[in-house]
Amino acid sequence: MSQYVEIFEVGPRDGLQNEKREIPTADKIALVDCLSGAGFKRIECASFVSPKWVPQMADSAEVLAGITRATDISYAALTPNMKGLENAIAAKADEVAIFGSASEGFSKANINASIAESLERFKPVTEAAKAAGLPVRGYVSCVVECPYDGAIDPASVARVVAALRDMGCYEVSLGDTIGRGKPEAIAAMLAAVLQELPATQLAGHFHDTGGQALANIEVALEKGLRVFDAAVGGLGGCPYAPGAAGNVATEAVHDRVLALGYETGLDRTILMQAAAMARAMRGDA
Ligand code: HMG
Ligand code: MG
Repeated sequence: MSQYVEIFEVGPRDGLQNEKREIPTADKIALVDCLSGAGFKRIECASFVSPKWVPQMADSAEVLAGITRATDISYAALTPNMKGLENAIAAKADEVAIFGSASEGFSKANINASIAESLERFKPVTEAAKAAGLPVRGYVSCVVECPYDGAIDPASVARVVAALRDMGCYEVSLGDTIGRGKPEAIAAMLAAVLQELPATQLAGHFHDTGGQALANIEVALEKGLRVFDAAVGGLGGCPYAPGAAGNVATEAVHDRVLALGYETGLDRTILMQAAAMARAMRGDA
């Protein structure tokens, strides 16, 4: 089993999308540029969603145009529909992500579609992305608990994971969107999901509201997962998930997995610089 753990940095997207104050585009670019020196292979820094729904991400094209790209880093963007994909291609995102939910309540609140409608909407997006040579990642939100529907049946998560796999997503990221998951619930969910997709094609995406994200990562490591999404400085939340706190902090994941004997390939000094920048952007530095 690999001793390398990849942290997929999502701070510039998942971290910043929830901020109410207007963050200058130049600050977002500076954060991504700092992160580009830390050793990440993938950084999610754009979201081509409706600016009426998430105003903070309205400058995603400007961010992608302004960053200094490292050739070995994939700069990723969220694309909920064809319009989002067209904008992502025009802005030269290196990969895109479609995002669905295991719960009907969150699906409706977040992307204004039932689960079935969203999967239909994603099919042309994945086909067109693949035709344009862009890898597509899939997200499933609310893998253990939903702010609207409560506890989620692991079988519902497995069904959405299978649908994203069948569409050709190269990896599916499992979101504990409101960060209330406990290790036992994560283990039960993973047991169901692993029937559909091997651990090598799964990622953990744990928000840290309940302070369980690191414990949940340990459970996922035991199940063979080696990719975890995180945000420097613990930035974040989802505007359509009331009560959701930030993503688990990148620097905390880095320290924990190193203590467990894994490698990340990340430069801790740069991570701490980026975390300080992120906290300043949030206004608590
Ligand atoms: P809708 O209102 O049903 O869409 O929203 P519509 O197709 O009826 O269009 C309405 C308007 O939006 C139109 O403009 C469209 O042109 C425009 P109008 O005619 O009114 O001026 N529009 C767009 N504009 C720019 N880019 C687009 C786009 N699409 C339509 N791509 C929609 C449906 C999906 C667009 C909307 O619900 C939406 O944007 N939702 C995104 C919500 C979001 O970004 N949530 C946060 C990201 S997910 C997350 O954080 C979870 C994750 O981290 C994992 C986890 O933690 O679990 C990934
Ligand atoms: Mg998230």
